[in-house]
Amino acid sequence: MSRAVIIGTGKYLPDNIMTNDDLSNIVDTSDEWISTRTGIRQRRISTGMSTSDLAYEAGLRALNKSGLRPEDIDLIICATITPDYFMPSCACIIQDRLGAVNAAAFDLTAACTGMIYGMVTAEQFIKSGMYRNALVIGAETLSKVLDWEDRSTCVLFGDGAGAVVMAKSEGDGGILTSNLEADGSKYDYLTCEAVPLENPYVDSGITHKVPRIRMLGQEVFKYAVRTITDNINTLLSRAQISKEEIKFIISHQANQRIIEQASKFIKIPIERFYMNLDLYGNTSAASIGIALDELVSGNEIKKGDKIILVGFGGGMTSGSILLEWS
Ligand code: ACO
Repeated sequence: MSRAVIIGTGKYLPDNIMTNDDLSNIVDTSDEWISTRTGIRQRRISTGMSTSDLAYEAGLRALNKSGLRPEDIDLIICATITPDYFMPSCACIIQDRLGAVNAAAFDLTAACTGMIYGMVTAEQFIKSGMYRNALVIGAETLSKVLDWEDRSTCVLFGDGAGAVVMAKSEGDGGILTSNLEADGSKYDYLTCEAVPLENPYVDSGITHKVPRIRMLGQEVFKYAVRTITDNINTLLSRAQISKEEIKFIISHQANQRIIEQASKFIKIPIERFYMNLDLYGNTSAASIGIALDELVSGNEIKKGDKIILVGFGGGMTSGSILLEWS
C-alpha cells in the first residue's frame, strides 16, 4: 500500500528574541504572570522578514534535508493566517524563490491547525497518485496582527516557520491515519478580521484599521484540552494501537497548562509531550513543524517510532496525524 512519508524537516525563526521582561516594558504584565499561566518565557519577533521569507527559509532547509531538487516538488502548501498578500499566495512566492518550477502552489487557512490540515491535504494528493513529492510549510508573522496594547493576547504569540517534505513510499511507515475536525459554531472564540465591505454601494463607516487577534481565552483553553484528548483517542482507536506505543506527542504549542491538563486527562506521561513553547511562544501554524524538526534534528526519533501530531486552533479547528517514522 502506498503511503505518504516525511523525508525532510526544517524550521526557521527570526533572530530577534523578545523576553517576558521586554514585554513588561510594553504592557502591564510580568515574567511571573506569563510563565506561570502559560509556560512561555520568550518568543521571536520579526524585525523585517515577512511570512513568505520565514516560510522560504524553513522550506529550503526541509528540501535540502530531503535530498530532492526543487524541480522534484509537485506541490507546495503554505498554511498561514498571516500571509504577505491576499493575492498572490505565500506558496507561489515560495515556489518562485525555491525554483520549484513544477509545483502547484496554494495557501491554506486553518489557524493553529494549519500544519495538520496541510499535511493531511498533501497526503491525499500523494496517496491518490496525483503528486509524488510535496512541501508543506506552516509559517506566521503573528506579530503584525497582535494588539500590542492587549496584555491578554500579545504575550502569547511569536513568529516562525516549520516545514516538511512529504513523498510517496511503498514501504513501511509514514502517515498511518489522520483526523480533521471543525466546529464553526465556535468561530468567535478566536478571530482576526479582514477588510470590511467597502464599495460604491456600501460605506462601512470604518476607517482603515489593521486587523487584530481577539480571543476568548478560557473557552479556547477548554476546547484545546478536550480536542487534544479526543483526537489522540480517535487515532489510537482507528489504528488499533495502545497509548504505550506512542513515543512522542507533538501538540500545537499554545500553553503549557493546556498540554499538562491533556496529559493528565488522557493518562499519557507529560514527558512524552514535546514542548518548546518556553522559547517561541505560540507560533500558530508553524509550531508543529518547528517541534518536529527539533526532535528529528536532535536524533530523538528512530525508525519505527510512532508519533502523534495534534493541533487545535481558530475556526475552531482541530486535527491529528499518527506517524510511523521511516
Ligand atoms: N499579565 C498580567 N495580567 C494579565 C495578563 C497578563 N499578560 N493577561 C490577563 N491578565 C489579568 C486579567 O486582566 C485578569 O485580571 P483581573 O482578575 O484583575 O480581571 C487576570 O489576569 C486573569 O485573567 P484571565 O483571562 O481570567 O486569565 P486566565 O487564567 O484565563 O489566563 C490565558 C489567560 C493564559 C490566556 C488562558 O485563558 C489561556 O491559556 N487560554 C488559552 C488560550 C490560548 O492559549 N490561546 C492561544 C491561541 S489559541 C490557539 O493557539 C489555538
